Amino acid sequence: MLPELRVGTRLAAQRLVTRGFAIAGDPLARLATAPWRYDPYPIYAGLRGRSVHRSRFGFYTVATYDLCSQILRDRTFGVRTRDGLEPPPATQSPLPQGTPVIPTFLEQDPPDHTRLRALARPAFSPRKIEGYREVVHKTTSRLLDDALAKGTFDLIADFAAPLPIAVISDLLGIPDVDTERFARYGRVLGASLDGTTTLRQARALRSATADLQALFRSLIAQRTEAPGDDVISALVRSLGAGELTELELVTTCELLLIAGFETTANLIGNGMWTFARNPEQWESLRSDPSMASAAVEEVLRYEPPIQLTQRITHAASVIGGVEIPADRMVIVALGSTGRDPEAYSNPDTFDLTRTPERDHLGFSSGIHYCLGAPLARMEAEIAFAALAERLPAVRAPRSPRWRDTTVIRGLRSLVLAA
Ligand code: HEM
Repeated sequence: MLPELRVGTRLAAQRLVTRGFAIAGDPLARLATAPWRYDPYPIYAGLRGRSVHRSRFGFYTVATYDLCSQILRDRTFGVRTRDGLEPPPATQSPLPQGTPVIPTFLEQDPPDHTRLRALARPAFSPRKIEGYREVVHKTTSRLLDDALAKGTFDLIADFAAPLPIAVISDLLGIPDVDTERFARYGRVLGASLDGTTTLRQARALRSATADLQALFRSLIAQRTEAPGDDVISALVRSLGAGELTELELVTTCELLLIAGFETTANLIGNGMWTFARNPEQWESLRSDPSMASAAVEEVLRYEPPIQLTQRITHAASVIGGVEIPADRMVIVALGSTGRDPEAYSNPDTFDLTRTPERDHLGFSSGIHYCLGAPLARMEAEIAFAALAERLPAVRAPRSPRWRDTTVIRGLRSLVLAA
């Protein structure tokens, strides 16, 4: 059988099995299947009823704040099996690839994780990111001027996606950015975090990965000749010093680019959708735009862009009284933690004035804590403040179109009137 046909048949069979489990009520299968996936919060509430849920897929899932936080900080949990072989990189298409693909440092355990994260870290320090405030303000104003001039605009395509794409591309030093092309790569690579489920997706993943590798290889060659003041030039210096390989450099650039906008775009989109359903909160923000920073944190608790992550036991572990053998995958339901009544009072109420009892886990915790958190916070704060100053009301459709993804929660579009 041709490889494409074989892969297509296998994926179709997997989809059928998942749908069957979802219909039978398996919560993890429901999180991965429409229509249940569009409203995951009742599913999380059910999952929180047990300390650890064992899915029919063989995965374990934890959904309470305390257990999720514990696992993320526990060094006996990693992101790969002990032999380092599984799982395959998220961006590896099940189709023959043509170009080698290795895991990003998000998908690696120490010592490789520690080494690669340390090389990228200086570029994302709060002080360095503060230097981008002006660029973010200017880009925000320019995009909002253009969007509002249309009368009716799509918040996602006209503002929430292009803003972080412009900022992270500037930081990395990518010239002549084609926003729509990058947004497409982001959707394809973001969806791959759920695992590849269709042949179409497998083809798109292979081609997006090849395109991005080609782009970064050419930028690396340019910056080797003529270094600049950007993140790629800094990493090229580390390449020269033998601190990472060229493929690791290319993969790190891909991670920084995609993580740098997919998530932030959805934070802005999820936030505005939530404001549309809570007009009194929008009024509060409008009357005091300095609440934008509290708004960012509350959206990250209430409607976070990254809903799930995963860890793998490096030793047999007892979690919440349940024994989990070594090398088993544990799904950590980040999106559930902000709605846990044991962690927050009135967790299902969106309230900018709340004094949260705990730090949210929207940026995760432990050694994989989001490297871009200072940048994401600054971008979203400036975006919410600017929107509040310029949009009198947020009226959105009753049932918005959510993206067909589980790990990433975000809207396909959100049409607003100026
Ligand atoms: C609202 C926006 C964002 C959210 C919600 C978010 C969320 C997260 C989460 C949950 C993780 C950890 C996943 C895990 O523990 O398995 C993570 C890691 C990461 N994020 Fe973000 N992120 C955001 C923005 C950004 C930005 C702007 C960048 C900039 C480049 C970025 C770069 C990264 C990187 C490099 C990692 C991997 C860290 C590691 O493995 O050590 N993120 N992010």
